[in-house]
Amino acid sequence: MNPSMPKSVSYEDRCLIFLDQTQLPNDVVFEEQTSIEQVWHSIKMLKVRGAPAIGVAGAYGLFLGARNLLSKTPKISAENFILELNKIADYLDSSRPTAVNLKWALKRMLKSANKNASKNVHEICNLLEHEAIRIHEEDKKLCRKIGENGLPLIKNGMGILTHCNAGALAVSELGTALAPIYLAHEKGIKLKVYSDETRPLLQGARLTSWELMQSGVDVTLITDNMAAHIMSQGHIQMAIVGADRVASNGDVANKIGTLGVAILAKYFNIPFYVACPFSTIDLKTPTGKEIEIEERGAEEVCHFGGRRTAPEKIKVRNPAFDVTPHHLVTGLITERGLLPYPYAEKIMELYRDA
Ligand code: MRU
Repeated sequence: MNPSMPKSVSYEDRCLIFLDQTQLPNDVVFEEQTSIEQVWHSIKMLKVRGAPAIGVAGAYGLFLGARNLLSKTPKISAENFILELNKIADYLDSSRPTAVNLKWALKRMLKSANKNASKNVHEICNLLEHEAIRIHEEDKKLCRKIGENGLPLIKNGMGILTHCNAGALAVSELGTALAPIYLAHEKGIKLKVYSDETRPLLQGARLTSWELMQSGVDVTLITDNMAAHIMSQGHIQMAIVGADRVASNGDVANKIGTLGVAILAKYFNIPFYVACPFSTIDLKTPTGKEIEIEERGAEEVCHFGGRRTAPEKIKVRNPAFDVTPHHLVTGLITERGLLPYPYAEKIMELYRDA
């Protein structure tokens, strides 16, 4: 992968910086985050987006909130400090409901605070900073591992379809769905990526095609409704997507339109893989039915390129994600290995071993 790819989240000289992905591919703009309200807004507006990246952003956001709280009330008791941290975590968590990585990272940060509750508040805050950095560093490592575990699936000459953006921009480095693709490309394996445009916010067009081009990967952009035709012509040998949450039975929530790709893949007998960190698997969610699907504003559907494209007052639905039933998934690619379908039992085993 091109080493000068801009990072979605960086923490340098104790400053939290997000790449504003809403401005890609036209402008590469970084924005320093100084308050929890700003972090909330950046997550809500998809300036920072992609399940693992919003987990990392949320972890740093919680630390930022803790640091700001201490600069206003340096004499706060540890008990009240932790109470406030819980409120900040709830607030940050309310920015987007579907990706479990945000909840997971915030929970992990709170666990660190609770574990150190007997220490002084400034020490608790320093430990929160370390925990956020650890979550960030771990994400980089596990993405590489996902790439290594998915690499054997990629054969010379393959056409690979992906939907939305599960690349470097959605994580700390490399990506999940795009990680095996980057590694294959580095090894000189010839492949062709087809990137679904991903209506309504065009993550495929604006982000996936942009980041793959930065690294010289052969990528072709198609609109979402072209996928069936391209598959029918034999151009696709595998589909790989990311995930926002995997229920314990293996159902997968991912960007709206993923279910359509999975159904098409089944029809055309094309393997359909989901790549995600293990933390995207949520044992507390038994099946896809229990996953809360974020519903976003009508303006995203009624406008295109800043121009209104539907009648005023038209009724609109805008679910941001859909659920692919586990039986349509050929396998899960995680940092702990490639889990072929049926993988629900294996998930439980890996959890027990952890
Ligand atoms: O709404 P977004 O852009 O945050 O949706 C992102 C996706 O659906 C990704 O496929 C998913 O988060 C996996 S990212 C590695």
